[in-house]
Amino acid sequence: MEIVTCIAPINIAVIKYWGKKCEEKIIPVNDSLSATLALEQMCAKTTIMASPNFKENKIWLNGKEESFENYRLQNCLTEIRNRVRNEENDSKQILSWKIHICSENNFPTAAGLASSAAGYACLVYSLSQLYSIRGDISTIARQGSGSACRSTLGGWVRWHAGVKDDGSDSIAKEVAPADHWPEMRILVLVVNETQKKCPSSIGMKNSVLTSQLLKYRAEKCVPERIQQMSQAILEKDFTTFAKLTIQDSNQFHAVCLDTNPPCFYMNDTSRDIVELVHCFNEVSGSLKVAYTFDAGPNACLYLLEETVPIFLSVLNKIFPPNDNDIDYVKGIPIDIPSSVPEEFIKSIPIKPKTNGLLKYIIYTKVGDGPRLLNDPNEHLLDENGLPK
Ligand code: DP6
Repeated sequence: MEIVTCIAPINIAVIKYWGKKCEEKIIPVNDSLSATLALEQMCAKTTIMASPNFKENKIWLNGKEESFENYRLQNCLTEIRNRVRNEENDSKQILSWKIHICSENNFPTAAGLASSAAGYACLVYSLSQLYSIRGDISTIARQGSGSACRSTLGGWVRWHAGVKDDGSDSIAKEVAPADHWPEMRILVLVVNETQKKCPSSIGMKNSVLTSQLLKYRAEKCVPERIQQMSQAILEKDFTTFAKLTIQDSNQFHAVCLDTNPPCFYMNDTSRDIVELVHCFNEVSGSLKVAYTFDAGPNACLYLLEETVPIFLSVLNKIFPPNDNDIDYVKGIPIDIPSSVPEEFIKSIPIKPKTNGLLKYIIYTKVGDGPRLLNDPNEHLLDENGLPK
């Protein structure tokens, strides 16, 4: 019997991936770039056990048994098996054993955060540990969920779309390590919402079929923007970084509107956050906060550590928590000043909203890639291969 347990991070793109050239192999129409977020605040955890005694393959996700016949999962497994067969590898024997997989997120899936990215990165990383696979695994994780390839690495990561039809050069590479820009912080604003959203895989398929703006974006805008973004990160130029992040998020949502049928991911609260960030930057006299939105209403804000206390106290005023919510800001511990300089708050022409529009806020930073956990107490499966 063999068992491994690993954790993997989520990532938040500042240049978005939206649209596939090849649906089956998940090859994107453009490059994208993201920061990997610290494992301490948000991660997926996966245990995989292989045993000659197992009768069939099984998978449990967030406490529920799911079908193993999912083609994305199957594609990842096929790629992994091919790698073991083609490499000098001692794991050829255990490859014939059935496996049990158990995976969960340490943040609520209902938060609508990039859980598939962390989940598939964790699955593929755990398989690579189980079968002692060396080298790049981003091309394998990509076939589970596109954005997952960026979560196989830490720090600032670029997913190169590649030019080959087989996707072998559609690969994630580090732009800068996690400790490159130590002042960078991220606030995830989890928005309360009930509306069901269009899954991103369906949304992006429709965009490829119907949006002219998507073509223009992929051919003209992203190639230029990704160079400027990489340079801004390497030079730690926050103003350029923030300008490009905001522009790219808004262009991605413009593509969503240009799609038939259109997909609306941002809601009224998201738009109120956009307004607040623009006001805050205006009053500050320079770009201090950048927002970006994925395929849902939650906002991810990038800002420097020095801006966090004042921004959070403004945010608390404009988006007050529900009265009894003592756990409004989760993640890295922080003291939020209860009073904001009067002048500053007065110059923000936005009235406080009703309480509880935000569910909670997660305060985090840029972090490392997936990690193997050596402590057997961390395993999610018991000695019989069943969820603990
Ligand atoms: C909006 O990676 O979830 O978050 O490849 O179909 O699984 P599939 O899509 P997915 O798309 C995420 C798109 C995005 C932008 C981004 O993360 O770059």
